[in-house]
Amino acid sequence: MKLTTYDKRVNFNCKALRAFVRNYINARKSGANKSQVGDSDLLSILLSDTTVFGGNDELIIDQLLDFFLAGTATVSLNSQNLLHRSALDKTHLAKLRQDIETHIKQPYREEKTTEGKHGDCFEGITYDRLFEMEYFGRYMQEVLRICPPAALSSMWTIKNDFKLQSISLSAGDVVCPNIWDLHHNPE
Ligand code: HEM
Repeated sequence: MKLTTYDKRVNFNCKALRAFVRNYINARKSGANKSQVGDSDLLSILLSDTTVFGGNDELIIDQLLDFFLAGTATVSLNSQNLLHRSALDKTHLAKLRQDIETHIKQPYREEKTTEGKHGDCFEGITYDRLFEMEYFGRYMQEVLRICPPAALSSMWTIKNDFKLQSISLSAGDVVCPNIWDLHHNPE
């Protein structure tokens, strides 16, 4: 197969990225870089696996890069979408700010007074407090609906015949749910 200039560049970048991760794995194996979280990180789990990944470093590289790309592109795009949409509507922005004030800043100010804490109010962010921010959570869901970072799901192979309203699917059919269209279809 003849590679275009673009293909060659992608191929080079792909090899360079894989080599970087391979070096990291080798350094971990030789003890040069240790897990920061008591061997409970993804790489430690994959290296200790004896069923599929054990001894297959190329498969481990696939998984690490998959997680890395799946996690970074989606979260950064969603953050941008949230900032963009809220900047366009002052009413929403004010409610989001109120949520931060009520659930993060205010409790932290109180802790600071009673427990003598110092530092920025964003040190008051905790997992539980994030879940108390109801408006923020709903806003995030709506941003995900309007601008889903992954517009298409992965391919699914249907195992058994079934009917979904007017759509009939047979075993062996391959479908790719269109997340964007589903979320934009008023029906
Ligand atoms: C706003 C954030 C995110 C969105 C919108 C999102 C969206 C998606 C979607 C639509 C799929 C395909 C599901 C399917 O077809 O069955 C998927 C799969 C996946 N995502 Fe995410 N994702 C997000 C964050 C993350 C993060 C933070 C990670 C990892 C740290 C991650 C790792 C993965 C992996 C590994 C898969 C493949 C799962 C599989 O095939 O079994 N995602 N994601």
